[in-house]
Amino acid sequence: MSRVLIIGAGGVGSVVTHKCAQVPEVFSEIVLASRTLEKCIRIKKQLDRPIEVARVDADNTRELISLIRKVSPDLIINVALPYQDLSIMDACLETGVHYLDTANYEPPDEARFCYKWQWDYHDRFKERNIVALLGCGFDPGVTNVFCAHAQKYHFDEIHYIDIMDCNAGDHGQPFATNFNPEINIREITQRGKYYENGRWIETDPLSVHSTFDFPEIGPRKMYLMYHEELESLVKNIPTIKRIRFWMTFTDEYLTHLRVLQNVGLTRIDPISFKGCEIVPLQFLKALLPDPGSLAETYKGKTCIGCMIEGIKDGRKKKYYIYNVCDHKACYREVKSQAVSYTTGVPAMIGAMLMLTGIWKAAGVYNVEEFDPTPFMEKLPVYGLPWTEKFIE
Ligand SMILES: NC(=O)c1ccc[n+]([C@@H]2O[C@H](COP(=O)([O-])OP(=O)(O)OC[C@H]3O[C@@H](n4cnc5c(N)ncnc54)[C@H](OP(=O)(O)O)[C@@H]3O)[C@@H](O)[C@H]2O)c1
Repeated sequence: MSRVLIIGAGGVGSVVTHKCAQVPEVFSEIVLASRTLEKCIRIKKQLDRPIEVARVDADNTRELISLIRKVSPDLIINVALPYQDLSIMDACLETGVHYLDTANYEPPDEARFCYKWQWDYHDRFKERNIVALLGCGFDPGVTNVFCAHAQKYHFDEIHYIDIMDCNAGDHGQPFATNFNPEINIREITQRGKYYENGRWIETDPLSVHSTFDFPEIGPRKMYLMYHEELESLVKNIPTIKRIRFWMTFTDEYLTHLRVLQNVGLTRIDPISFKGCEIVPLQFLKALLPDPGSLAETYKGKTCIGCMIEGIKDGRKKKYYIYNVCDHKACYREVKSQAVSYTTGVPAMIGAMLMLTGIWKAAGVYNVEEFDPTPFMEKLPVYGLPWTEKFIE
């Protein structure tokens, strides 16, 4: 029996709220707070049990502290934007409340993934005897748990990991992003980066590609990108020799993106327009479809997984573990598309493991630092089945 405060009423926040509401024996009381109260009310109306809603500006730590004192939650699930991670962590420290998120902190004026800002809170969270669980969505999140599971059951030493993320869905729009457009476009336009033999190697944005035959989908072109779980997995799997992250994009998507970049609409530095300061990417976000609005017509599947190579009992081994998720099935269940669903379900499971004391610690942790088994057991129960293939 516990009280949870969910911050952020976007695509992912909606799924987290639906999924927590499905498990009243753990999440006995739910409060959903966000910048726009109407969005919280819209989600509340879709549920068949009552929840509380509130308005909060999560950039404002004082405002957060006063909401937390009023609500008195056991845990905060942060599914607002990465910009709010530190202000929410500060409020958790002040009030002594556990914290969970799905994306690492980024300063608004610099598109850069880096766990350092949040890892620096470790000693303070430890002293306060509270836990911060970082990156508990799908990637990061389930992909990290897949690696921890492989390490626990299938490998003595993991040497190579390729995380491959495919969305083969069709939403019928000429160009749209599957989660927050600002965060998504910042992520895919930054320089690529991967880790090999003890050093990080940078590549030009989306300049390296390969083709992979995704289960239940077929061959798709995927592009090498930097993604935040690479940083924590390099730290937590010390035998690793190379780790890379790949994401699929269609040629049409990349053509749109190139044009938007060429005309300056993906810039994150403010420009002056008719006497106002605007950030072009924020203006573009206002023009693009809200990712949540894509759900109703979205069809097709996502497939995200890890290809892992290493050594078991002195022999080389190659292993692939993945989930396939269907956009339409997600909409039928919680009125969301699969990208929000695959992020929101793991956030709920991580919260459940923390609140029931199965994942217990004090300090700041990434998901692969906990026992993967209870998480892996719960994934299929709550809508994300996984499959293993032993290749060599
Ligand atoms: N790990 C993964 O697998 C994964 C995958 C996808 C997404 N994510 C992460 O999930 C998070 C949510 O993504 P999303 O697609 O749901 O985004 P979204 O649809 O844009 O939703 C974000 C929500 O946060 C609210 N918000 C923004 N700033 C706020 C503030 N200062 N105070 C209070 N609320 C604020 C927004 O309010 P308004 O409605 O007022 O704008 C919106 O309701 C992002 O951090 C994203 O990076 C993780």
